[in-house]
Amino acid sequence: MMNTSTGGPTPKKMKFSQNGDDHYTKIREERLQLPIRPARSRLIQEVQRHNSVVVIGETGSGKTTQIPQYLFEAGLHRNSIIAITQPRTVAAITVSQRVALEKRSDMGDLVGYRVRFDDTTSEHTKIKYMTDGMLLREAISDPLMKRYSIVILDEAHERTIHTDVLFGVVKSAQRQRHKLGMKPLKIIVMSATMDVDHFSQYFNKAPVLYLEGRQFPITVMYCKEEQSDYLFASLVTLFQIHREALPQEDILMFLTGQEEIESAAKSIRDIAKNMTGNVPNLIVCPLFAALPSQQQLKVFQPTPKGCRKVIIATNIAETSITVSGVKYVIDSGKVKAKIYNSRGGLDLMKVVHVSQAQAQQRCGRAGRESPGTCYRLYTEQQYEAFRKTTIPEIQRCNLASVVLQLTAMGIQDIVNFDFMDKPSTEAIISAIEHLKLLGALENTEEIRLTSIGKQMAEFPLDPRMSKAIISAKDFKCLEEILTIVSLLSVDSVLYTPQSRREQAVAVRQKFMSSEGDHITLLNVFRAYKGVNGNKAWCQENFINMRNMRTVFDVRRQLRDICVRQDLPLNTCGHDTASIRKCLATGFFMNSAELQKEGEYMSLSTRKSVTIHPSSALFHCKPAYVIYNELVQTTKCYMRDLCVVDADWLYETAPTYFKKKKPGECAVVNYYSLLVINLMK
Ligand code: CDP
Ligand code: MG
Repeated sequence: MMNTSTGGPTPKKMKFSQNGDDHYTKIREERLQLPIRPARSRLIQEVQRHNSVVVIGETGSGKTTQIPQYLFEAGLHRNSIIAITQPRTVAAITVSQRVALEKRSDMGDLVGYRVRFDDTTSEHTKIKYMTDGMLLREAISDPLMKRYSIVILDEAHERTIHTDVLFGVVKSAQRQRHKLGMKPLKIIVMSATMDVDHFSQYFNKAPVLYLEGRQFPITVMYCKEEQSDYLFASLVTLFQIHREALPQEDILMFLTGQEEIESAAKSIRDIAKNMTGNVPNLIVCPLFAALPSQQQLKVFQPTPKGCRKVIIATNIAETSITVSGVKYVIDSGKVKAKIYNSRGGLDLMKVVHVSQAQAQQRCGRAGRESPGTCYRLYTEQQYEAFRKTTIPEIQRCNLASVVLQLTAMGIQDIVNFDFMDKPSTEAIISAIEHLKLLGALENTEEIRLTSIGKQMAEFPLDPRMSKAIISAKDFKCLEEILTIVSLLSVDSVLYTPQSRREQAVAVRQKFMSSEGDHITLLNVFRAYKGVNGNKAWCQENFINMRNMRTVFDVRRQLRDICVRQDLPLNTCGHDTASIRKCLATGFFMNSAELQKEGEYMSLSTRKSVTIHPSSALFHCKPAYVIYNELVQTTKCYMRDLCVVDADWLYETAPTYFKKKKPGECAVVNYYSLLVINLMK
């Protein structure tokens, strides 16, 4: 090691800069210009005086990037860590990168992030951005959150299931620390839009700090008539604006999901290419959570002279990501959301109307830098009929993983847990039943984890997935299950560009398995490994290399947990039946049965479901399948399917399923071998 001539301690790292200082000066000036700046000292004072503070301020005012820095600069972290939670992984990463830049910190030094399967923090990290799910996971082993002095719950209005559980867990940690005479835990709740009274009330009447934002007037235009096809309406509106508006006046359009956005982007590019007359060049930027970050950056680049940018985004652009230059907003009024069917205990992804609060937030994005216009693709009457605020996710999704986590934290009375808005007792009971069926909870009145349940709680996964991992020892296929679970935990490794869809499907035919998508994905993974992740091979086969690398990373971490739990790392080679049997032990509740008419029926909800066109089984009709998720568009589609035997389902959960007697079959359904045993 090199030492300095004075013999003093070696500085950790020498930093030199040639022209870079201009860059930092600019960043420093930008920081000083942010609307939040004048509130700095007031904020610091409030946090010194109170244990909980609510902060509300427009998107882009500097809450997420500046507040942690202000508190740090004022020494309020008292040598421990300031945690800032985000509902979305992308936001946690991009924001921490920005703050690291502002603080001239290497990532993971003073500033770092921790998201599922990726932890950049070190013992030097004092400003730590993380997903709310991650902080919740840490709370299992550290319910008092001892390593933190301040927890900032950001984007509180999103009310994801994790945020809501975290509210209760952080609040309880604060109370406990006070009781035990420990250092106080400061809680800051932030959002651009929220029911401040409700939040303030819940956090022990916390004071509310309103930040002055920059907001220019916005003209709101409603459709005169209801639109039956919001996609069509959005394209028509977009080109209407495009023909008339000045160049560089950018457009932000809200649609619902990746596939829809990619297909709209393609249509827009096609139409724009064939436009005649004097119109600016149109730059089309899709924006959704799964988009690789390099492509996301395109959204932030200034629009070149004489051009126009149109950003087609999911609700990620409502608050999480700030895009500058937007003059027009086109709001489809739709959002993709999880809906819960408590009878079947199942989640369903579905496109629904936004709430009025969401519509207002979207509208606000048009007036950040100058007056703007928002086109709403619905009528004013429709708007009036929208819900005022969004229903928190906790009241509309399967609570199995919440119940598992809370139980792992030692909280038994889940029905009386201090939720900000309580989920229904029915949903909690259904989650408890779900966990009992998975073997995670004791079959007793008292809520207690079994040894399997304890093991399951250690995996940052849906309980169904962790159950399959733990069952793998019985089928000697842990290596394969780890691969499959990792593949299902990241964004798709199959890259299918709209313009070359047929080619991609044809070249990947060789991976297709008649046993379903799980085995197909396993084939892809094995082939990729066989060529050592060769880049040309990936391009040729339309495999997303970045996501594939993430799969390896995720797999390594899950494998580490398995090693810690002494699970035997067996491989079953080509015995794919073992793999499918093993998957059935976790996913038996997501099963469907072929009916006489050639349709499928979900066994738990008794609803008609269809194989998604992207599935390897699209042209097959196996008698029984299990699926990873349900997505409702024109129909209710099952995604990521695996062929199973009726017997496996029955054997894995005999109390849940009942074998039909031959007589029964003829009445209800000729093909049906199984019925759900309605225990309740
Ligand atoms: O949280 P809030 O919406 O109030 O604002 P923020 O995320 O702290 O962003 C404040 C400003 O920082 C934005 O207006 C951007 O100019 C800048 N920023 C950036 O340049 N890059 C990022 N990844 C995040 C923010
Ligand atoms: Mg923010």
